[in-house]
Amino acid sequence: MKAVILAGGLGTRLRPLTYTIPKALVPLCGKPLISHIVDSMPPSIDTVLIAVNYMRDALESYFRGLDLPREIIMVEELEPLGTGGALKNVGRYLDETFVAFNGDVVSSIDLDAMVCFHNSSGGIGTVALWHVEDPSAFGAVALGENGRIVKFQEKPPKDLALSNLVNAGAYVFEPDILDWIGPGNVSLEREVFPQILTRGLYGHRFGGYWVDCGTRENFLRAQRVLMDGGRHLMSNTELVGASRVIGPNYLDGVKCLSGRIGPYVSAHKGVVIKEESEVSDSILMEGVILEQGSRVKGSIVGPGVTIASSETATDSILALH
Ligand code: GDD
Ligand code: MG
Repeated sequence: MKAVILAGGLGTRLRPLTYTIPKALVPLCGKPLISHIVDSMPPSIDTVLIAVNYMRDALESYFRGLDLPREIIMVEELEPLGTGGALKNVGRYLDETFVAFNGDVVSSIDLDAMVCFHNSSGGIGTVALWHVEDPSAFGAVALGENGRIVKFQEKPPKDLALSNLVNAGAYVFEPDILDWIGPGNVSLEREVFPQILTRGLYGHRFGGYWVDCGTRENFLRAQRVLMDGGRHLMSNTELVGASRVIGPNYLDGVKCLSGRIGPYVSAHKGVVIKEESEVSDSILMEGVILEQGSRVKGSIVGPGVTIASSETATDSILALH
């Protein structure tokens, strides 16, 4: 079966980092966001089509360096076509039931179970559903009998939302959904879903975890969820003097010179944490230096950034460009 990952979009909410790195390649516990999606796919997925429109080269060279058990095909849009248009743009590869994912979501969804549910429903599509307190940043659904979606509402005001069940950004579709997508920029959620309800669009709930990583806060939340779920590491890491590490963290190739790390820190090759500096709940990309007495909390720090002595970075995204 083929899978499509919608990995376009400019990642504006993760700027300035996403001026130089596409959102899909921002590291989350030791590997890029998009790799969490690809690696969680079951063996039944033999081909992954990645719909991109921004920084295709960076994504292409990342995947070229990997040895994956499935084929990766990058399909570029010359201009952003929206979530529906992007799907239509990869349509030439899709001639049987396929799955699709928003490229900024990490979750524990059991795809085989969802495909099984979809096949028994006989509908044109199945949308994975997740329960949230506030649906206003998502697509909310009203469910009828047998999990059938009777109404779909993208980004509803909180007090007018149909329910607390939202589109989790993972789908199973029949290829004839492509016939419902017109040319140009089309939103799957706003323009296509409301039209195909009569053809049978179903909702499928799942358990475990789910995080949309579109913002700094949510990216760091995904990191905490993954670390609490067991994805932590300390490898090639040098702890000198009075260094303290408070877990869980994902540390690979880090040097700590009497600083304090953790909890919930990812730090990569070449990171140096100097005397009396502290970092928690953050991502430090390759080569980041925390000078003496500096503090970093709730932040994503891009490659090669140095935090000067005694400076503080809180709830920030920092990058060189
Ligand atoms: N190729 C391509 N082209 N991809 C795109 C485009 C485009 O023009 N526009 C958006 N995408 C990709 C984004 O990169 C992201 O991975 C995914 O499509 C969803 O777009 P977002 O911009 O992140 O949408 P959202 O988070 O506001 O809402 C969507 O996701 C929610 C769940 O996380 C909707 O699908 C909601 O209904 C859903 O609840
Ligand atoms: Mg999103």
